Amino acid sequence: MSAAGDTNAVTPPDIRLRKGQTPLVCLTAYTTPIAKLVDRHCDIVLVGDSVGMVLHGLSSTLGVTLDMMIMHGKAVRRGLERALLVVDLPFGSYEEGPEQAFRNAARLMAEAGCAAVKLEGGESMAATIRFLTARGVPVMAHVGLTPQAVNTFGGYCVQGLGDDAERIRRDAGAVTEAGAFSVVLEKVPEPLAKAITAQIAIPTIGIGASPACDGQILVVDDILGMFTDFRPKFVKRYAELGSEAEAAIGTYAADVRDRRFPAAEHVYAAASRPGDVA
Ligand code: KIV
Repeated sequence: MSAAGDTNAVTPPDIRLRKGQTPLVCLTAYTTPIAKLVDRHCDIVLVGDSVGMVLHGLSSTLGVTLDMMIMHGKAVRRGLERALLVVDLPFGSYEEGPEQAFRNAARLMAEAGCAAVKLEGGESMAATIRFLTARGVPVMAHVGLTPQAVNTFGGYCVQGLGDDAERIRRDAGAVTEAGAFSVVLEKVPEPLAKAITAQIAIPTIGIGASPACDGQILVVDDILGMFTDFRPKFVKRYAELGSEAEAAIGTYAADVRDRRFPAAEHVYAAASRPGDVA
């Protein structure tokens, strides 16, 4: 468990201290089996609201609910021993104000067992971040491209170009001042990521934000080739499990139709013993 009290577990203060050190390794996970695979390799495991698009077939993250995040958070909690578990506050669960954010963050921490929450927004969320951190809720912020604001941006566009860079710099400064222990920087040009990383005292975790950041995060299904609906430029594929799985399913289907499966080794003989479980 990465909850307080377990000395082997990574904590938000540990992450904060990693500023400027070996890059932080972060991935998403939504299920117990994937959590078990990523745990020993990652500093932070995020149950991102990307779960809505990756596992539930939604066209954006806007339809993701707090109950979905709690359910996936619990599943991931069961698979982690070491990495810090962070769970996203979904769209509509925190924007009304600090009290609403605290109520829902407290549910995530109590029910899913996460040690921190992530929320999207910079200057506009500073008061909320300050309120949460003063009440025992460590916050990972998220600025640059914030996917919950896709309708405001008019698409998943690169942020911080030209004069807009100043807005992202102010956002990063504001969440740092407010007490966030780290900040995700999404889809911004390298010089801006570099300037922000040098400017603020907390680790920047980049996604499409260059190697200048203090760490990197990607969606695990993207790096494994399991989510293939679209592929942003910033994703590197380390495996093609989606096409391998499809080929395996095709082979199973052909085996069933051609009566190659089940074979003798998959069949129970009359001599099976009562109580055999395999
Ligand atoms: O929802 C998500 O998975 C995220 C990250 C990939 C940063 O916010």
